[in-house]
Formats: sequence, structure tokens, C-alpha cells
Amino acid sequence: MKQDELCATAAAMVKKGKGILAADESTGTIKKRFDTIGVQSTPDIRRDWREMLFRTEPAMSDYISGVILYDETLRQSAVDGMPLVELIRNTGAIPGIKVDMGAQDMAGFAGEKITAGLDGLRNRMKEYYDLGARFAKWRAVIEIDASRPSAVCVAANCHALARYAAICQEAGIVPIVEPEVLMDGAHDLARCAEVTEWVLKHLYMELFMHKVMLEGTVLKPNMCISGKKCANRAGVEEVAEATIKCLKSTVPAAVPGIAFLSGGQSDIEATAHLNAMNACNNLPWNLTFSYGRALQAAPLKAWGGKAENHDAGQAAFNHRAKMNGLATMGKWNESMEG
Ligand code: 13P
Repeated sequence: MKQDELCATAAAMVKKGKGILAADESTGTIKKRFDTIGVQSTPDIRRDWREMLFRTEPAMSDYISGVILYDETLRQSAVDGMPLVELIRNTGAIPGIKVDMGAQDMAGFAGEKITAGLDGLRNRMKEYYDLGARFAKWRAVIEIDASRPSAVCVAANCHALARYAAICQEAGIVPIVEPEVLMDGAHDLARCAEVTEWVLKHLYMELFMHKVMLEGTVLKPNMCISGKKCANRAGVEEVAEATIKCLKSTVPAAVPGIAFLSGGQSDIEATAHLNAMNACNNLPWNLTFSYGRALQAAPLKAWGGKAENHDAGQAAFNHRAKMNGLATMGKWNESMEG
């Protein structure tokens, strides 16, 4: 019964034409986003911003399969009193929850991170299910340079992801498994692809050891992409090709779908890469988006924290959601950006 529910939820999250809105910024991260538009970060203003997104139509009904929430948002209600979870559910999208406690410095491994949050997770998960979450997210962070990542960092993060995923499935919650190889740095595409392949191979070994049912999971990886400071950044076709090659050699066909993070790409770049990958035929999994910044940057700027910009914010979100929805089917092209 639970297995059927997990498979059905995972399949719905990665349904063709739709993708995931990552609106799960921690209180610290959303403050950084609000700082860029000169808006104070209070619980009410965070609620207003997110309520505006969740009420955007047709974006929510047509292009968004699920929304990742932060703990605070999962418990908040709209201005009219309706719980935000219910608002999301009414659009047909599935509410999800970020359950990790953030990436912390790893003892003994300067410059590397390990994600916190496993202690007590089993009990928290029961509450999240009762509050309406049907999937969860855990993000591991892997940094690249000539000597990083270390084998210990890769192993520790993949082990934590697998323990988290097993706890989720026990509670009837689909785990989004997110090992993010960061785009920060001057490394080239080949180095990113090498590290991503290593991490994904290790991850699927750990998921197997922890008896995680792959059909009831969603992978949220980075794309294989040049570092932000790389002198010769690879083009769209190269990124798409390298990413597909890497995923084909690491991700079992039992996984129903792969929902990429945007990781600091510009919004149009993130759409173009997804579109190019979906123009390839015969992939064993659906490829979609689970974007935070690449979906929210334009609406955040258009809204600017002012009630009178509500419609402009929603228009910007409608546009980006539609562009990415088209990209999940390989039907986007740059002229649609107007
Ligand atoms: P970005 O798309 O902004 O990278 O965020 C996605 C996310 O959820 C990171 O955990």
C-alpha cells in the first residue's frame, strides 16, 4: 500500500510538462534573496511572497507538480486563513518539505561540508506527513577544486542521503535525493562531470545498501556544467550531452524522474539546458526542473516587495513556469522569451 503510494507520488512529481518549485529557502537564505530587493524578511512578508507564487495561475495548475516548503511555510496560512498547504493542494500540486538542517563544516576536512539533520528525523517525518507533506528534500553539498572532494566527504554525504531516504519511505514520504556538486570555482565541464559521476555512483550504492525503493524516489542533481569562473565555459549542447552521458552511466532506469537544481545558472540558461536534454530521445527517466532561483529571480524582481506589483510578480512567475514546462518536453526556444 505504502509502496504504491510512494510510486504514485514520485511519478506525479516528474510528470511530463510539469516540474517542482523549490520555495524552501531557509530563513537565512530567504533574507539574502530579500536583501537584493531591499525588503525586510519577516514571517508575514515571507508568507506574502510565497502566497503570491502559490496563487499564480495558470502556472501552478499547468506547470508545477510540487512545491518544496520550509518548515515555517508548511505551518503558515494565507491572509484569508487558508493553510498554504491546502492552497497548494487545490492547484493540483503536491506539498513537500525540506528536512535537512543545512550543510555544516566537516570536522577534519577543511573546506568540505556534511549535511546535518538525521537525529530525530524519524519522529519529525511523522509530523510532516500529518501536516500534508508527501515528499521531502535533503541537500548534500560537494565542493570542487584540485584536491576536493575527498573520498570521505563523498562517502559521508551519500551515506546521510541514503539514511534520510530510507526514513522518508518508511513514513510514506517520497525522498528527493539531492547531491549538489557546486558550480562555484574555475573548474571545467570535464571536472564537474568526473566528480558528478563519482558522487552518483556512490549514492546509488548507498541507496541499495539502505534498501531504498528507487521507484519511489526522485533524483535532484546538478547538471554537468563549467564552474562559474571557468575561462572557457561550455555551451548549451555540450552541457546537455555531458549531463546525459553522466546520468546514463550512473542512474538506474528504475528511478522515475530526475529534477535538476539550477544552482546559480541564469534563468534562461537553466531553461535552455533542460530543453536541450529533453530534445534527446529514449531516456529511461523523465527529466524536469526543481528550480529555486531560476524560477523565482524574475518574479522576485518584478514584485520588489510592493503590494501594487502583485500582478507583475505573478506575470513573471507565469512566464518562467511556462518556459520550463515547455523545456521538459523539448518544446522551448529562445524566441519565446520575448
Ligand atoms: P536552486 O535552483 O536555486 O539551485 O535551488 C534549488 C534547491 O532546492 C537547492 O537545494
